[in-house]
Amino acid sequence: MLNFEFKNPTKILFGKGQIANLSKEIPADAKILMVYGGGSIKSNGVYEQVTQALKGFEIIEFGGVPANPEYAILLEALAIIKKENINYILAVGGGSVIDGVKFLASAALYEGEEPWHILAHGIRTEVALPFGTVLTLPATGSEMNSGSVISRAETKEKLAMGGPGLFPAFSILDPEVIKSIPQRQIANGITDAYTHVLEQYMTYPIGACLQDRFAESIMQTLIEVAPKVMANPADYTAAADFMWCCTMALNGLIQKGVPTDWAVHAIGHELTALYGIDHARTLAIIAPSHYRYHLAQKKEKLAQYAERVWNIQEGSVEEKATQAIAKTEEFFHSLDIKTKLSEYTETYEGTAESIEERFNTRGWKALGEHKSITPADVAKIVSMSY
Ligand code: NZQ
Ligand code: ZN
Repeated sequence: MLNFEFKNPTKILFGKGQIANLSKEIPADAKILMVYGGGSIKSNGVYEQVTQALKGFEIIEFGGVPANPEYAILLEALAIIKKENINYILAVGGGSVIDGVKFLASAALYEGEEPWHILAHGIRTEVALPFGTVLTLPATGSEMNSGSVISRAETKEKLAMGGPGLFPAFSILDPEVIKSIPQRQIANGITDAYTHVLEQYMTYPIGACLQDRFAESIMQTLIEVAPKVMANPADYTAAADFMWCCTMALNGLIQKGVPTDWAVHAIGHELTALYGIDHARTLAIIAPSHYRYHLAQKKEKLAQYAERVWNIQEGSVEEKATQAIAKTEEFFHSLDIKTKLSEYTETYEGTAESIEERFNTRGWKALGEHKSITPADVAKIVSMSY
């Protein structure tokens, strides 16, 4: 195992009825900005539960954060934070709302001129305004990690930020929120979490047995519960496993002591920035081609994954690895997730070249666990995904 440090300060309140405990987690004198998305919380009862739990607190609301949280909209919320001297932020939503709140928490204390520089110049957030979350959509793990991804329509960019100041103080995970999530978003959540595990696992063996088995157990659990949650999001037992898998897939634990890849996400973010394709779907488009392109580098882990997760015991290492990629693609298809770019946009020609150019311009010349993936390789992976 590689050396590591691990600290995750986020307190988790998991289970039915936990939203009622919200008031115990927020300082009594807090002036809160409550941030939410396009309105799902108003029709599924979450808004009532939150406002009921926060009776007596001073709250200003900011709704309308869209999926793929938009910089221009977040600047409106930032202006309110400054004008109203907000000292606590509460995110009520999925990854987009939580990521938007992380940006706000950082930008509120940022002293530079243009908050976009936090993203464009990769400025780490050491301290931020305190914030907590009520998660309504399991997927990203943002509720228990210190990363955030922000989109900017004006420049068609989607960039990440992070730092130790961006862990939520607490996150409330009530699996009952899942019953109102549309199928498309449940499928996205499963696919995103599954790919998070792949990004931290599908590299090369270093003998970190416990880390490997954490990762494999999350994937096995997602495979097991996926059809149940898809068929009935009100199945509390399955929903609880689904929710905890998503959190555990990206709260830092499984990446410790092992090499990680993250090329699928780096490339996928460009497909969202260029075409607005849902985040998880961009991963399903890129991952199979990425693993096929890097079969030689990743075949040992792919074969281990084939044996342990898909129970493929016959054949050579290469054969098992190849079958495992096909199984992964089939799993995405079973969730009604398409895995070719041409199934999402007719104007896919030229995508490979434009992503290659963007990565060259940004100096992203060495992706993956070996820092060996060049923009030219990225272009080949993208064109294999057409
Ligand atoms: O906006 P509302 O009306 O609330 O509707 C949302 C939204 O339309 C809806 N929804 C959420 N909870 C619901 C619900 N509908 C009914 N019932 C509920 N309980 O679902 C839609 C999608 O929500 P969104 O927050 O965009 O989805 P998700 O959680 O998948 O977040 C995606 C964003 O997170 C980023 C992605 O890039 C993308 O921008 N990521 C963040 C990461 C992180 N911070 O660690 C890692 C990920 O890899 C990812 O990049
Ligand atoms: Zn993701």
